[in-house]
Amino acid sequence: MRFSAFLSTSVAVASLAFAQTDTATMNLTALINSNQNLSELNSLLSAMPDLAAGIANMTNVTLFAPSNAAFSTLNSSNPGLLAGLVSSQNYIQALLSYHLVPNMSVMAANISSTPSFLPTALNATMYANVTGGQVIEARLGENMTAEIISGMKDVANITQADVKYNNGIVHIIDSLLSIPANVSATAEAADLTDFLGALRATNLTAPLNAASDITVFAPNNEAFQNISSALSTLTAEQITNILEYHVINGTIAYSSSLANASLPSMAGTNLTITVDKSTGAVFVNSARVINADILIANGVLHVLDNVLNPNNTANATSPDQPVFSGASGSASSTGDMLTSGIAAPSTTNTALVATDSTVAAGYTTRMGAGGSAASTGPLSTSSKGIGMPVATGAVGAAALFGGAAMVLNW
Ligand SMILES: *[C@@H]1O[C@H](CO)[C@@H](O)[C@H](O)[C@H]1NC(C)=O
Ligand SMILES: *[C@@H]1O[C@H](CO)[C@@H](O)[C@H](O)[C@H]1NC(C)=O
Ligand SMILES: *[C@@H]1O[C@H](CO)[C@@H](O)[C@H](O)[C@H]1NC(C)=O
Ligand SMILES: *[C@@H]1O[C@H](CO)[C@@H](O)[C@H](O)[C@H]1NC(C)=O
Ligand SMILES: *[C@@H]1O[C@H](CO)[C@@H](O)[C@H](O)[C@H]1NC(C)=O
Ligand SMILES: *[C@@H]1O[C@H](CO)[C@@H](O)[C@H](O)[C@H]1NC(C)=O
Ligand SMILES: *[C@@H]1O[C@H](CO)[C@@H](O)[C@H](O)[C@H]1NC(C)=O
Ligand SMILES: *[C@@H]1O[C@H](CO)[C@@H](O)[C@H](O)[C@H]1NC(C)=O
Ligand SMILES: *[C@@H]1O[C@H](CO)[C@@H](O)[C@H](O)[C@H]1NC(C)=O
Ligand SMILES: *[C@@H]1O[C@H](CO)[C@@H](O)[C@H](O)[C@H]1NC(C)=O
Ligand SMILES: *[C@@H]1O[C@H](CO)[C@@H](O)[C@H](O)[C@H]1NC(C)=O
Ligand SMILES: *[C@@H]1O[C@H](CO)[C@@H](O)[C@H](O)[C@H]1NC(C)=O
Repeated sequence: MRFSAFLSTSVAVASLAFAQTDTATMNLTALINSNQNLSELNSLLSAMPDLAAGIANMTNVTLFAPSNAAFSTLNSSNPGLLAGLVSSQNYIQALLSYHLVPNMSVMAANISSTPSFLPTALNATMYANVTGGQVIEARLGENMTAEIISGMKDVANITQADVKYNNGIVHIIDSLLSIPANVSATAEAADLTDFLGALRATNLTAPLNAASDITVFAPNNEAFQNISSALSTLTAEQITNILEYHVINGTIAYSSSLANASLPSMAGTNLTITVDKSTGAVFVNSARVINADILIANGVLHVLDNVLNPNNTANATSPDQPVFSGASGSASSTGDMLTSGIAAPSTTNTALVATDSTVAAGYTTRMGAGGSAASTGPLSTSSKGIGMPVATGAVGAAALFGGAAMVLNW
């Protein structure tokens, strides 16, 4: 059943196509009304006239408008979900705010293969703790398609760009954006079970989820497993100190802002960020960032291939150097220690578990082998052989459903 079927019947759907109309003098309401491809969005907004009027009144904004196909993909994978959500005005308001970039006219020509992180109007603390508004990532993907990347690395494509109206610009996208989830839900979807177990064992899960503006460097499971012998000799206090060394409190460092720097960690001791000029690879001390820019409710998470040690700050001059002396380990030993009681993820999110040994500052993943956007990136990418994340409707819907379910249970 179509989403609109659940909504008010007084929805006017005109049949003008943008291409045949000068939209620049229209207001947002008229513009959305005039495009057949936005009738589901129109239905949603019509059900919330105050919100719609508020959005239409904002000046100089960029709206990423989900097409009918975006709604029907969601509705076919989760029938009734959106209809149920309409009863949660807070959630719909937050979701629509996340599709809106205020005080900025973002034209398609501004989107390049260097990702940019655009602050949206989503700032309600129930959904985001990012000062200035939760961000979306905009970049050119494979075949120069402009992509908008949101929570769980869900990818929406811009299918019609630069539609002007009196107060701003609309880009039509083929999938709804997903509000980023908190650290624990995101780490779970990314299969970072040992990291989750370590957070729980050190009572850091709740403080991290409640923080604002953080950068989390999360070692993958193999990284923890490689040092399980060392971990088993450490006190709880030492493990806490190690975990805190993986978090920057008060600064969100997206890949585009990662540069050679020394940054204070939550543990007090500084982290050394190094960007390899020839390959663009990013290192935190001697560990490598293997999956960058996973947006979380209160900042960003980057996956590392090694656990960091505040007492051994070897840097990228010795990449991947073991920083826990004499450490060895196997999957089962650490797995038991840190993850007992931590459920394996129920779904695997390809984009989150993908590892990419060539993640680069200002030039992150998702460049398929031979990706043609290479020429506009700041780095040489000729040998990049990174798997494209599979951002299917099902993945997007699952992520959205997670958020939705949470809201409906409150
Ligand atoms: C938007 O434009 C339509 C058509 O011109 C008009 O009927 C409507 O009143 C306008 N809405 C606002 C809020 O100005
Ligand atoms: C929209 O702007 C008009 C004129 O500035 C104002 O009268 C109206 O109250 C505003 N509506 C909303 C919903 O903010
Ligand atoms: C409108 O957007 C442009 C481009 O993003 C920006 O340079 C300008 O400062 C904005 N104007 C206002 C009044 O916010
Ligand atoms: C969210 O943004 C709106 C509009 O800019 C502002 O009025 C409001 O105070 C902000 N709320 C928070 C929690 O920052
Ligand atoms: C990119 O273009 C190539 C050549 O036309 C095509 O084979 C490939 O499937 C395209 N990739 C995507 C993700 O559409
Ligand atoms: C976005 O475009 C890519 C490449 O053309 C395609 O594989 C993917 O399915 C599209 N995403 C959606 C949500 O349609
Ligand atoms: C975590 O909290 C529990 C319950 O308050 C406490 O017993 C335990 O010692 C704490 N663990 C650490 C590492 O602080
Ligand atoms: C992060 O820093 C803020 C401000 O200094 C502080 O209030 C907060 O408790 C810190 N968060 C954590 C998790 O340490
Ligand atoms: C934002 O922070 C507040 C206060 O710590 C917390 O209650 C809320 O759950 C956080 N929001 C999200 C989406 O995590
Ligand atoms: C780091 O070294 C100090 C001083 O030797 C020691 O007290 C502390 O426990 C060590 N921390 C870790 C995580 O090994
Ligand atoms: C730690 O980083 C801060 C901020 O970059 C810097 O001011 C400070 O000098 C650094 N401390 C050390 C010991 O390198
Ligand atoms: C990296 O480590 C080497 C060797 O210990 C040291 O000489 C260099 O100063 C370090 N670089 C940074 C940026 O800390």
